[in-house]
Amino acid sequence: MRIFIETMGCQMNKLDSELAAGALRAAGHEIVEDRRQADAVVYNTCSVRQHAEQKVLSRIGADAQRKESGKRLLVAVIGCMAQRMGESLRRKYPAVDVVCSPGRLFDLPELLARAAAGAGGVSLDPARPAGPGEDDIARMDDLDLARDVSAAAGQSQAFVRVMRGCDFFCSYCIVPFVRGPEHSRDPSHVVQEVGRLVQAGRSEITLLGQTVNSYHWAGSGRAVRFSDLLAAVSAVPGLRRLRFVTSHPTDFGDDILQAMRDLPNVCPYIHCPAQSGSDAVLTRMNRGYTRRQYDEFVDRARTIVPGVVLAGDFIVGFPGETQEDHQASADLIRRSGYKNSFIFKYSARPGTPAAKKYADDIPQAVKARRNNELLAVQEEAGLAHHRQYVGKTVDVLVEGPSASAKKTARRKHESSSSPNPPIHASATGVSAAAPAAVQLMGRTTGDHIVVFDGLATLSGRYVNVQITDATSLTLLGCL
Ligand code: SAH
Ligand code: SF4
Ligand code: F3S
Repeated sequence: MRIFIETMGCQMNKLDSELAAGALRAAGHEIVEDRRQADAVVYNTCSVRQHAEQKVLSRIGADAQRKESGKRLLVAVIGCMAQRMGESLRRKYPAVDVVCSPGRLFDLPELLARAAAGAGGVSLDPARPAGPGEDDIARMDDLDLARDVSAAAGQSQAFVRVMRGCDFFCSYCIVPFVRGPEHSRDPSHVVQEVGRLVQAGRSEITLLGQTVNSYHWAGSGRAVRFSDLLAAVSAVPGLRRLRFVTSHPTDFGDDILQAMRDLPNVCPYIHCPAQSGSDAVLTRMNRGYTRRQYDEFVDRARTIVPGVVLAGDFIVGFPGETQEDHQASADLIRRSGYKNSFIFKYSARPGTPAAKKYADDIPQAVKARRNNELLAVQEEAGLAHHRQYVGKTVDVLVEGPSASAKKTARRKHESSSSPNPPIHASATGVSAAAPAAVQLMGRTTGDHIVVFDGLATLSGRYVNVQITDATSLTLLGCL
């Protein structure tokens, strides 16, 4: 079959899509980039906000119409929404043939094969508190370990899972329910996977976990903390950059900060969401720390890791959030000096403690206004943060042409492939000209976006860029 995969949600889902694609290829299918050519579409879904779920449902609606008008098409829903809605997805939306939870991706090829033979199916994780059994966890681990490291040849970056699930139960969050209980992977498996990826040419690895710094593993008579894992992975020969996301403020011990300071390839970047700057809201969110503890974490990080770059997440309009609570979040953004923050409007998720306990009482208009206000405060903080780099030289991993360079290239391609090219087009001698510089985009060790001019052939290489200017989200410079 020709299969099109569309991925929503977080990095965990991106990694799962890569693993699902590998498993489907191994089963003899072809992964296609154009949904119109596909015999089957796979939606890897996110349930974190209602908006993310609506997007998938509208895709399924369009697929249902195509099926009704006679198109043979299989529709599979995987990811967090598959686990959240389960069987009911197929009942409510008959166009859906397959539902497969993120913890049972190993079942996906078989489910699709059965659907092609006329019998769709559902494979779900056992609900909490049980969660997946040892055998299923081992099968999922095998899927990670068996990943096809050569699939994305030329790619410099890769994600590697170190944990599954989450046990924090922040009151607003669906993740613990759809991703199941927290489970840390065997460190030797992580190191082995990173080793294979680096050998295949990936030089920047990002370790993934919902609360990655809570990683802890015990076995063969030893205990491995996240700082120990960082040390083990950073020693993989040829690994140039080691990153990790997402961190939780409560488990950020000095040992991790010292590892970041002392291990040369660990990037000085911490994405550590605060969610709110107000103690009253943090308590109702069940975040497990106070505003003062978060401030102390920021100060400790800045003291121990010189030049550390911080990024945050905030939720506006959590039930009962007062104007004062909101101001406390704005104040926290100013104080923390984040490079960037992701700011979300509270979305009540069915089944979460907050949805059960608290009325979603902040009007949409107020959520929208608070969202814009925090964005404006972050824009100011981001500009001040980025300006510190003007005049400095930074190490950049080149990702490729910038978004605007890609747009220009597309426009050129479209006009040159138009049926009536302008007469002079054949006389410009484009093929003989020296390759021209384009606008390139890359990232620093601190995860700053850097835009500069250079040859497209630099993609995947590390270069030094001198920073000449800055915006609230970008550094601008020259090679
Ligand atoms: N595990 C990560 C991220 C989880 S989801 C962590 O703990 O930081 C990513 C972000 O989505 C969260 O940081 C939070 O800011 C936001 N989010 C989660 N649930 C939400 C909800 N119900 N409404 C709005 N934003 C939400
Ligand atoms: Fe959700 Fe909280 Fe777990 Fe993050 S730590 S995934 S916000 S429950
Ligand atoms: Fe969304 Fe699931 Fe990630 S709910 S944010 S895709 S873990």
